[in-house]
Amino acid sequence: MAPSPCAESGASAASLQAALRAVLGFNAATPLSSARIMVRFENVGMRYGAGQEVLRDVSFALEPGSFTFLTGLSGAGKTTLLKLISLAEPPSRGLITLFGRDLATLKRREFPALRRRIGMVFQDFRLIDHLSAFDNVSLPLRISGRRGADYAHDVKELLSWVGLGDRLQSPPPTLSGGEQQRVAIARAVVGRPDLLVADEPTGSVDAEIGERLIRLFGELNRLGTTVLIATHDRSLIEKGRAREMRLVGGRLVELRGAT
Ligand SMILES: Nc1ncnc2c1ncn2[C@@H]1O[C@H](COP(=O)(O)OP(=O)(O)O)[C@@H](O)[C@H]1O
Ligand SMILES: [Mg+2]
Repeated sequence: MAPSPCAESGASAASLQAALRAVLGFNAATPLSSARIMVRFENVGMRYGAGQEVLRDVSFALEPGSFTFLTGLSGAGKTTLLKLISLAEPPSRGLITLFGRDLATLKRREFPALRRRIGMVFQDFRLIDHLSAFDNVSLPLRISGRRGADYAHDVKELLSWVGLGDRLQSPPPTLSGGEQQRVAIARAVVGRPDLLVADEPTGSVDAEIGERLIRLFGELNRLGTTVLIATHDRSLIEKGRAREMRLVGGRLVELRGAT
């Protein structure tokens, strides 16, 4: 079997890959970041206010090009761990490096450049309500200076691929939760980030769409993006053979190593 966590066989997989490469691979000539560790945690602890530690002595590294599931029961600390990676909160103790940079020594004005290298899918989507689905997904490309004429086709293809080809002009408040989730995912992957971090990205969609989204993440990963997905959906995890890290009692347990 192929080493991909979401491997499939047959012609349909080949045509899927061709379609996604056409959409996501437009800047494939741009080399991704050098082969240093993308994310490293060393003995990281996190507490909110004066409460108990939510994360305790968490240590792990994400290698470039790896695909990892972060699992654990509700309340285990998955979202907290992802917030630390996305610079939303500082850790209470321990060392975090992102793309080789020690976050403790990072200046606030350096945050945006680092964040632009991360595609984030938030548990609560965080779409911009007054922009259409198309404009929400285009935003990372506009910010990176690309012109509408260059990306309009790619954005439409990607939205079609996640099943929203007929909702391009719809603003998020007129979409269902599952549709909003797919807009959020399309926005996170469209710029082909160095690192994709997704928090329960299939939490609001049915199983068939969930599988489609996981295939999208797998294809992005094959194009070079390092992927970290928080989920408690066992059916997704068991389909692939990706690494699984599980949070139990605030500590990280390796259930299945990187292949
Ligand atoms: N902003 C916050 N303030 C205080 N406690 C929080 C906050 N966010 C999360 N927690 C607590 O931290 C723990 C882990 O939450 P979370 O990271 O959201 O877990 P998960 O994503 O695995 O469900 C929970 O007990 C939760 O109540
Ligand atoms: Mg969560």
